[in-house]
Parts: sequence; structure tokens; C-alpha cells
Amino acid sequence: MKKNITVIKGDGIGPEIVTEAMKVLDKVGAKYGHEFSFHEILAGGCAIDACGKCLPEQSLDACLTGDSVLLGAVGGPKWDGVDKNNRPERALLGIRSAMGLYANLRPAKLFSQLRAASPLNPEIVARGIDFVVVRELIGGVYFGAHDTVEENGEKRATDIMVYSEHEIERIARTAFETARKRRGKVTSVDKANVLDTSRLWREVVTRVSREYPDVAYSDMLVDNTAMQIVKDPSQFDVIVTENMFGDILSDEASMITGSIGMIPSSSLGETKNGMYEPIHGSAPDIAGQNLANPIGTILSGAMMLKYSFDLDEESAEIERAVSAVLDAGYRTADIMDEGGRRVSCSEMGDLICSEIG
Ligand code: NAI
Ligand code: MG
Repeated sequence: MKKNITVIKGDGIGPEIVTEAMKVLDKVGAKYGHEFSFHEILAGGCAIDACGKCLPEQSLDACLTGDSVLLGAVGGPKWDGVDKNNRPERALLGIRSAMGLYANLRPAKLFSQLRAASPLNPEIVARGIDFVVVRELIGGVYFGAHDTVEENGEKRATDIMVYSEHEIERIARTAFETARKRRGKVTSVDKANVLDTSRLWREVVTRVSREYPDVAYSDMLVDNTAMQIVKDPSQFDVIVTENMFGDILSDEASMITGSIGMIPSSSLGETKNGMYEPIHGSAPDIAGQNLANPIGTILSGAMMLKYSFDLDEESAEIERAVSAVLDAGYRTADIMDEGGRRVSCSEMGDLICSEIG
């Protein structure tokens, strides 16, 4: 298989972690006979420095015409002063909306080797944490009308939550398809006891669920879900929910795994061309020191193989290699524990590559 991957190394630790992910993808490609070619483009702060624009046109074109996008992170204090419409983060919003990436997938997976990093009770952790939050990304209250008015000397603000059937239907399909590639269970999260958007959400997801008789489906109210994620996360496989609930629940979900440097994410749309990135930012405090944990980015590469290229076996091979390197005790600074063997960002990438070799 031949694929063109658009690469945005970005700012801060971005170049360091993406370089390691590219090494790992090359290694998997060589092992399984695929050719991944990387097309590096500028977006974010580095693009502002180079040409004054956070998202140059040719960069966006490259994202739209390639087979998938791999991103490190963008932004940093250096660009705090730039115009708000040209901030580094705007580049990501621009790419997400131009590519129509309506589904954000964030796995919450605790590697058993890093159990001690979870803030949860060890008995709960022992049951395992391995689920994905599928968050609707371009609708809901974040995209409805916003307004602040002043009446009788008092300000009043409004944010409107809007969902239409087709928006719910397509994200529901993403969730059921994702569950088919996992343990076959979808929990749809809403606030149907209060909100009309949630009642429609539940109606549409229930309808879509009938097309997936092989997937177990249930609903849960969002407040209860927030409790269940800390009480018994092992009950979840795929959680699907609207934009704001997903924003909050996906942060809660990554927190219980204890390590920001380990978690990948993907943003998907109507086509196979998606965007893959670690959940953390550009970590300016450790940039340029070969200290960063590249695993979140490397696992983002694994998600790319699975969701954009349907290379399930190759994707699992990366996950297996990461797990084996952790088994052997190797740790970057952020996940260092008693008895761990401290390695740099590039050494971690090398170790994962040799495990695949
Ligand atoms: P951050 O995620 O960059 O860093 C938070 C803390 O976690 C720091 O102490 C950092 O050193 C550590 N950390 C993050 N990733 C790590 C890794 N891979 N290995 C080891 N340690 C790691 O969040 P922060 O500091 O709030 O934001 C820094 C910049 O990144 C800001 O300009 C922010 O706007 C931007 N940002 C960009 C994102 C993106 O490109 N998708 C997402 C979040 C923030
Ligand atoms: Mg958030």
C-alpha cells in the first residue's frame, strides 16, 4: 500500500515527537511492505514566523489532498501577542473545519505497566481502563449563536445548542463502526431528561443502533457518566456524545490514565482522510531538550493506520511494541517510576522501532 501523509511538526516539542512517530511508521511500513511518504508543511507558530500566516494556503491544500494528516502540536508564549485570528491554534480550527472533521476520538487507555500513575483507587484500576470517547466536534453549543446583551443595566448572555438529525446520525455511525473494531459496545451519553437536543440525540442514535445488531447499545445521562468514569471505567468501550459533554468527559477520561504524554487522538470526517495528534500541547517548558514523551504521537500514528488506512494488524503491532518497551522498564521523564530506566525522546522512538524490527 502507498500512502501520502501530510506532516505538521508544529512548535515546541512538536518536531521532536513527530520525528519519532515518522521513524516508527517507516519501520512498520518496511516490515509489512507499505510505502508511507511524508509531505512536511508549515502550520502554527512556525508558519507565522516563516510567512506571517498561521495556516498558509498551500498547507491547507496539502491537508485536503493527502491521505491523512499527522500533527505534533502548535502554539507557545512566543506568539501570545499575535492577532487573535492568526493565532497558532487557529490553524487547527481552519484545518478541522475545511476537512469537515466532525468526529473526535480520544482513547482512554491505561497501560498496565503504568498503573501507579492513575489517581484512581488501585482496585478500580486493576479492572482495566480501555475505552474511547467519540466526541461530536463541529456542532452543538460551541457552534450555535452566541450573544451578550445589556438590558436595564444588567448583562444577559445566550449560547444556543443546535443539533440536526444528520449531524447526530453521522457521529453515531462513527461510534458504531469504532465499536466494531473494538469490544462491540456503545454507550450514548446525553441529558435527555432535560434537553430537546438530547432527546433528538437519543432518538437518532437508537435508530442508527438498529443497523448494528452486533454492537451492544445503551444510553446514559451525562452526570451519571461523569461518576461512572471514576467509579468503574472498565464498563465502557465506546462513549459517544455531543461536543461540550465530550470536551469535558474526554478530559476526565484522560486524567484517570494519569499521563498526558501517552494519549493519542484522531479527528475524522466523511472521508478516510483524518487528522491524528497527541492530546497534549507544545510543552514549551521542555522543548528542544530531547525530554518529551513521543508515545502519544506514535500511538496517533497507530490510530492513523487503523482508521484512515484500515491497517489493523500494523496498528496493533505499534501498540504491542509500545507495550513491550514499557514492559522492559523504559520510561521518559514524565512517566518515570521506581525501577524505571530513564530514556530520552529519541531513545524511546528507537526502542519502539527495534521492537518492531
Ligand atoms: P501542554 O500540554 O503543552 O503542557 C502541559 C504540561 O505537560 C507541561 O508541563 C509539559 O511539559 C507536559 N507535557 C506535555 N506533553 C508532554 C510530553 N509529550 N512529554 C512530556 N511532558 C509533556 O499544555 P500547556 O503548557 O497548557 O500549553 C502549551 C502550548 O501548547 C500553548 O501555547 C497551548 O495553546 C498549546 N496547545 C496546543 C495544542 C495543540 O496543538 N493541539 C493543545 C493544547 C495546547
Ligand atoms: Mg478540552
